[in-house]
Amino acid sequence: MEKFYITTPIYYPSGKFHIGTAYTTTLADTIRRYKKLRGFDTFMLTGTDEHGQKIETVAKEHGKTPKEHVDEMAQMAKDLWNLMNIKYDYFIRTTEPRHEKAVQDIFEYFLQKGDIYKGEYEGWYCMPCETYFTETQLVDGKCPDCGRDVRLMKEEAYFFNMKKYVDKLLKYYDEHPDFIQPEYRKTEMINNFIKPGLEDLCVTRTTFDWGIKVKSDPKHVIYVWLDALTNYVTALGYKQEDDSLYRKLWPADLQIVGKDIARFHLIYWPIFLMALDLPLPKKILVHNFIMMKDGKMSKSKGNVVYPEKLISRYGVDATRYFLLREMQTSQDGLYTPESFIERYNSDLCNDLGNLVNRTVSMVNKYFEGNVPEYNGTPNEVDKEFEEFTNSQIKKVEKLIDKYEIADALKSIPTPVEEAVVEEQIVEEPKVEQVVAAEQQYANETTFEAKPSLWQRIKNSKIVRAVKAITRIRIVLDYSDALPEGRGENNQ
Ligand code: MSP
Repeated sequence: MEKFYITTPIYYPSGKFHIGTAYTTTLADTIRRYKKLRGFDTFMLTGTDEHGQKIETVAKEHGKTPKEHVDEMAQMAKDLWNLMNIKYDYFIRTTEPRHEKAVQDIFEYFLQKGDIYKGEYEGWYCMPCETYFTETQLVDGKCPDCGRDVRLMKEEAYFFNMKKYVDKLLKYYDEHPDFIQPEYRKTEMINNFIKPGLEDLCVTRTTFDWGIKVKSDPKHVIYVWLDALTNYVTALGYKQEDDSLYRKLWPADLQIVGKDIARFHLIYWPIFLMALDLPLPKKILVHNFIMMKDGKMSKSKGNVVYPEKLISRYGVDATRYFLLREMQTSQDGLYTPESFIERYNSDLCNDLGNLVNRTVSMVNKYFEGNVPEYNGTPNEVDKEFEEFTNSQIKKVEKLIDKYEIADALKSIPTPVEEAVVEEQIVEEPKVEQVVAAEQQYANETTFEAKPSLWQRIKNSKIVRAVKAITRIRIVLDYSDALPEGRGENNQ
């Protein structure tokens, strides 16, 4: 069986996750389900990125130790993914001793190789926040978090020599046109970060404690990105005694990240892997943002939407559907309560919901709850519908294979609408159809209880409708709407 290793970013457990964070994981889970249905041996990794100054500060604000805080938050994340029907194969926490040890070893290896060197970090430091900012992060020359004055300060720090690998990276981009999706993100990286001259990356700090210590120089803490990015391989056992999963699964087939962390995954991550002499992931998919009417979601604006609320009101499938349907790969999606309700009412209740309900009730009414066997195409109308549905299925599959999930969902309603029309014919037969069916019945030469033509029409149309619904379940898990196990054999 061919393997398919898919990863999400590991999330900062600084606060409750909103629908933007939930989007990345829902997208990954959807692709995982699809690949599994297509016969792949899938493995999905998610987790939490638990070190750093912000976590230390948030924990303090809550009167907790960082460890107590991240333990609670990791559980919160697991509960949310469970609520959202998201299944992962491993949940990595960067505070796991095996990850910490592997990161320390990687650091020492880079140090020995000369890829990491000691230098001086200079930045704008905010005393009350105990945080460095770059010039561009400042707001009117003040701290972007608390608005107070900042001071230009220097500290001893370790740097990763990014410049050494730039040409190799550009060559890799060139030779692997499928590495980054969508392609314009690659152009963005080249124009915005590489052409102006890639800076070496500062990989340690001495101003806070909550992090992995450098083995050979423990007053330094490994700064978040080297710690965070390597999770994708340490979770599989890389640099550990049992590395069988690593050997089976690496390189990843798909790594999904949001646009705000594209730079770290498209430049630094490939360079770290090159420095380790490891193969690069086959594809990194960068998605856009879910926006609010007044811009980005943020606590200070008070416009944050949490998935639990939508789920308790509208259910998990509707919430997943909205997130996936609203976000095109290359464009930001917009959340408004109105757009959510509109999708819920028109796409799900009117079209899909009605079709599912009527089909299930017909299966119960005419076939004692068993999906009848499909015996071939009995008439022209059916044939046309079958051909149409099959061609739409191909289209949907192609789109999902390209990870264009919103577009794939957009093409599903067409067969659903068709199926609704078909199924209405079954429920409300036209007089001529009944007469024709009766006629056929009367012409049957034996009086044995053979199914009449009408019965056969009904039979095949219901099978079609069930088929259409089971296909849709590839994207939305509607198993609860169908009697258990029904429809599985009819795909
Ligand atoms: N910890 C880092 C990632 C390290 S990966 C080695 C991080 N964490 S995060 O919690 O801030 O963000 C995680 C993911 O959520 C990112 O992919 C980010 O793009 C995504 N989103 C956060 N807000 C979002 C929206 N409003 N819309 C869509 N996705 C968004 O960054």
